[in-house]
Amino acid sequence: MRRHWQKSARLIRQAIPAFAGVCSKRELFALAARDDVESRLVVRTGSARKPLFSLEHGPFRAAHFKALPETGWTLLVQGVDLHLDAAADLLRRFSFIPYARLDDLMVSYAVPGGGVGPHFDSYDVFLLQGPGRRQWRVSKQQDLRLIPDLPLKILKHFKAEDGWDLGPGDMLYLPPSVAHDGIALTECMTCSIGFRAPTGQELVENFLQFLPESLAIAGTRYADPDLTATRRPGRIDGKLQRRMGAMLRAVRWDRAVVERFLGCLLSEPKADVFFDPPAAPLPLPAFVRLATGAVDGAVRLDRRARMLYDNASVYLNGEVFAGLAEHPALAALADHRRLSAAAVPEPTLRLLHEAYLTGALHVGSSRES
Ligand code: SIN
Ligand code: CO
Repeated sequence: MRRHWQKSARLIRQAIPAFAGVCSKRELFALAARDDVESRLVVRTGSARKPLFSLEHGPFRAAHFKALPETGWTLLVQGVDLHLDAAADLLRRFSFIPYARLDDLMVSYAVPGGGVGPHFDSYDVFLLQGPGRRQWRVSKQQDLRLIPDLPLKILKHFKAEDGWDLGPGDMLYLPPSVAHDGIALTECMTCSIGFRAPTGQELVENFLQFLPESLAIAGTRYADPDLTATRRPGRIDGKLQRRMGAMLRAVRWDRAVVERFLGCLLSEPKADVFFDPPAAPLPLPAFVRLATGAVDGAVRLDRRARMLYDNASVYLNGEVFAGLAEHPALAALADHRRLSAAAVPEPTLRLLHEAYLTGALHVGSSRES
């Protein structure tokens, strides 16, 4: 982290020895057929000297792939961690980086020659090679101009400075803005562990949307006891502008509001995530028995649930869930995403039961979604 995070590319041979991927080709194609899963198909067209790319968005039926050539295309599926336990487990191996920065796991499948072309991303990424081999070439070039009018962001002048062939388990870390091009040498699958970092614009827009809920501008209303008769009623006069401007300048927020905003924003699940409450929910006593039992004594967050905490509060799926001082055990749940509940006090168990009823939390050993 000290030497490479957000600073320079780093190749790690055998980061996960003999890594076999998080799903089969068949499972990946099944995800790409779903309309609640974001998928893209990139086909290389044009010539070797002047490669071009076409882009289609899913869902894709099986017949779609039958019409494709034997080389030069790739299927990319976003958010695989939301659908497969193995993918969510892989993401957790990157928990040396705060969950607040973690985005998702994308899995790509490519036939020989397949790739999305030379480009750069705005986010940090770990590219972990699954089955098959892929060549990565990278460049720290300053010239990040793109070929205009393409459906994909492709660099106009990519000049590779370094390159490696990656096999199963090899991993390449890339900081934002490093130009890169990954071309499948054989049929292969690649996992992209992606991170997120909001732009100032996004952060401020979200904050301004959140702010009204937390603002208490008590007892203020515009008043103008000194108003005189006018011959120009259409005009917004300077006095009114100054007074209303002062009302706006009086807007204040404190650190607690900012911290609550960040907790809610950063724990917000992805837009298309919905939780399924348990079909036959356990009442509290049975839940507690299972959660604190010696054999299956564990509760665990649903793979799609996001739980974070700061010094004051615990946040779950975009909302304040509990005070940390009253429920300190929840910090361990947020960190490890599971909790042996044997030593958890009754009030916290009640809260966990509430989360269980929404489907954000599971109890016992079964791994339902
Ligand atoms: C991939 O092709 O699997 C990764 C695409 C990328 O470079 O972002
Ligand atoms: Co990229």
